[in-house]
Amino acid sequence: MKLQHRLLILLSLLLVFGLTGCGSSDDIVTNVGELQFEKPLNIPELLEPTIDSDGTKHFNLTMEPGTTAFFPGKKTDTWGINGSYLGPTIRVSRGDQVSFDVENKLGETSTLHWHGMMLPPKMDGGPHQMIEAGKTWSPHWTIDQPSATTWYHPHLHGKTAQHVYRGLAGMFIIDDEDSKKLPSNYGVNDIPLIVQDKLFTSDGQLLEDDDTSYGTMGDEILVNGTYDPYLEVTDSQVRFRILNGSNARAYNVGFNDGRSFQLVANDAGLLNEAVTLDRVRLSPGERAEIVVEFEPGDETILRSFSSSAGIESGEFDLLKIVAASELTQSSPISEKLSSIPPIEVPENAKVRQFKLTMENEINDKKMDMQRIDEVVPAGTTEIWEIHNFGPEHNFHIHDAAFRVLDVNGEEPREFERGRKDTVFVPHGGSVRLVVEFGNHPETEDRLVCHCHLLKHEDEGMMGQFLLVEPGTESHVPTELPKKNIEHNDH
Ligand code: C2O
Ligand code: CU
Ligand code: CU
Repeated sequence: MKLQHRLLILLSLLLVFGLTGCGSSDDIVTNVGELQFEKPLNIPELLEPTIDSDGTKHFNLTMEPGTTAFFPGKKTDTWGINGSYLGPTIRVSRGDQVSFDVENKLGETSTLHWHGMMLPPKMDGGPHQMIEAGKTWSPHWTIDQPSATTWYHPHLHGKTAQHVYRGLAGMFIIDDEDSKKLPSNYGVNDIPLIVQDKLFTSDGQLLEDDDTSYGTMGDEILVNGTYDPYLEVTDSQVRFRILNGSNARAYNVGFNDGRSFQLVANDAGLLNEAVTLDRVRLSPGERAEIVVEFEPGDETILRSFSSSAGIESGEFDLLKIVAASELTQSSPISEKLSSIPPIEVPENAKVRQFKLTMENEINDKKMDMQRIDEVVPAGTTEIWEIHNFGPEHNFHIHDAAFRVLDVNGEEPREFERGRKDTVFVPHGGSVRLVVEFGNHPETEDRLVCHCHLLKHEDEGMMGQFLLVEPGTESHVPTELPKKNIEHNDH
């Protein structure tokens, strides 16, 4: 009798604690109910190129410190590109020749990486192409890849988290004939959404709190650098290009009124056919293009729903969208979106294994600028298997596009079946990717692959690979002489 009694008490205690979550780890970080949606969403300006005599589109970017008014009456110290926070949107078409002057006025070294771009490794803007304070870096290449929503951000080894967190990032849109069939009127029915979580001090300064193992996890949201944003739309169909530009947090995006949307593109390009969904998960660095239908007078909130989706999703209102009382009617989007077939596994594809660890290492090694981890024939397609023995991570490959073959041995979820360059890797799980590499062989200029949780990346969760002329893989030294760390000095 006594024992039974005690067991009963124990059982009810377990039940009570179980239901209330028994501690803070289950408390969901949220801003739901806190916003007024009073500020018009900032739309980053489209940067106008100058056209060189040979037709090259030339863009000038200046990285600089500034102050930004996120909150009424408060000035926040921030960094930006051609402005005080974030950078302009660059928009070009497949086949364009582009060139840039990237001027560094930050007062310290940085880099500017073109995330998602297929280009000669020298132009990639990764950890190797440093731009010292006061200097200008001038990369150029020809846009040769399918339409996509790509982006740019610093990539200085050990400093990426800080530089991105302070505000250095922007969107880079590539158009082609397929993508132009979708809503494409920038700022009207084609809207960039750069989603970032931030921590602010009481006087409105950005807090670079790095306490969690994932890095800075904010409790406030900025979209395109706007706090408390709303957007009025005037079209019955609007395409949103959502970029997770956060340091670590993942989002599980949908609408508070339960409306569905059509997913039309992943990171690296259009899907072959649109998929109707009501959620899409974006871990840091990932993008999704969605097309949403509106009725006149509609009001809805774009929200990140808390779930088991990963990296402490939280529950966040991102943006209130209000549809005008009269809408420009657009014709329904065509069923077939992309004329580019999905990436296929070639016969005898080379398989490489990558182990992500608890210590933020890849294959038990920290990033070493002098060590080349993989030598890959340029232009080939390989299978890369990513096994996660640590907490949650994701994985991004430079100068490549991939398709997820499976996640934990099963077909990937619907929102991650298209062309990608960054993928979430579940805790204790694995993903298999079929990866198409860029076609610019090099003997010295390295590319990187890494976890896109910026603290992990900074701590060395990154490897280097070379894309070489096919057949020359075995001739490449895997240690580099010290002097090969380039400095940019023009
Ligand atoms: Cu978004 Cu290696 O970068
Ligand atoms: Cu990248
Ligand atoms: Cu990681």
